[in-house]
Amino acid sequence: MANILVTGGAGYIGSHTCLELLNAGYDVVVYDNLSNSAQESLNRVESLTGKKLTFIQGDIRDSVALDSVFAEHQIDAVIHFAGLKAVGESQQVPLTYFDNNIAGSIQLVQAMQRAQVFNLVFSSSATVYDEANVSPLNEDMPTGMPSNNYGYTKLIVEQLLQKLSLSDQRWSIALLRYFNPVGAHQSGQIGEDPQGIPNNLMPFVTQVAVGRREKLSIFGDDYDTVDGTGVRDYIHVVDLANAHLCALQNRLNHNGCRAWNIGTGKGKSVLQVKNTFEQVNGVKVAFEISPRREGDVATSFANNVRAIEELNWTPKYNLEDMLKDSWRWQQQNPNGYRD
Ligand code: NAD
Ligand code: UFG
Repeated sequence: MANILVTGGAGYIGSHTCLELLNAGYDVVVYDNLSNSAQESLNRVESLTGKKLTFIQGDIRDSVALDSVFAEHQIDAVIHFAGLKAVGESQQVPLTYFDNNIAGSIQLVQAMQRAQVFNLVFSSSATVYDEANVSPLNEDMPTGMPSNNYGYTKLIVEQLLQKLSLSDQRWSIALLRYFNPVGAHQSGQIGEDPQGIPNNLMPFVTQVAVGRREKLSIFGDDYDTVDGTGVRDYIHVVDLANAHLCALQNRLNHNGCRAWNIGTGKGKSVLQVKNTFEQVNGVKVAFEISPRREGDVATSFANNVRAIEELNWTPKYNLEDMLKDSWRWQQQNPNGYRD
């Protein structure tokens, strides 16, 4: 079975993907600098699967270390999660984001080229779409200029990977445009473990429910949506992880660079998420309505037909599953991996 290098594999989406890779029989080498994760996530992946993976602590900007990873392991393909993802922080320290996400990705593909490894799956984001597009968003719609530096790094890396694949037919690259990943593995053993105050809705909701935060601020209730609150396409992290295995399979038989949306195709409002969370988990989530958050759009959800048809991928979990699984992870690990 193929040997997959997973950059950023100790993180939220990476750890779930490693688990699915191991269960499917792949060999896995994780390369992560642990800047936003804990190695404990990988210990748990090993115990959940009963299989071993190789962990190497390192930075994607370190070309010498990357060369030795490729020299010491016979890598067949790379799934590239490593990068920084906090939208607000990216406005404060843009160069740190350009360096980790853009320069880091360039270092990685250079090392791949030196090692003659040309199969790559890249973590992109729905944020690359032009804000003027009306949901459901499909892959042929124009990309735009993301309102924040984090989104800008995703757009730039997408574009440079597209140019790279045009210049050399040996490249086979999947750009997976994630919508809003939430949920956790059903065991409750691995999940999202944000440092500090969460930026995203789901970890904030679970931290309020568990008593770590006082109340949820709902950013705006005057959008043109079903109930005035923002609408997003929440996708279970296990479904998202499996999309990477489907993309790997697809890329074995195709050259070039292609983008796929990874979402359920269904938009849910912030209030719907909060109310459904309370209902399925039997807990209250205190909240207040706050002003809109800068840079937010009213509605964003996917047209996911391309991924369903071309990748043989189908999302299996609904919002209730996502909210139950997020809550199980939070309850079993109130302080994340730091217990
Ligand atoms: P995460 O922070 O949990 O995982 C990223 C991992 O990369 C972490 O383990 C971190 O330690 C590692 N890392 C960061 N910089 C590195 C570097 N320079 N060298 C080596 N390792 C490094 O985030 P996640 O939610 O699992 O996201 C994974 C990928 O998916 C990221 O590229 C992110 O931008 C992208 N993405 C995430 C979302 C989301 O909402 N979670 C949405 C769209 C796209
Ligand atoms: N929200 C709140 N309160 C919070 C957090 C979020 O009301 O405390 C609302 C937001 O306004 C939005 C929805 O919940 O309507 C979802 O917000 P998230 O921050 O969870 O997710 P975003 O859609 O803003 O961001 C996600 C990813 C980014 C990516 C972006 C672009 O987290 O990485 O999508 O599509 F860049």
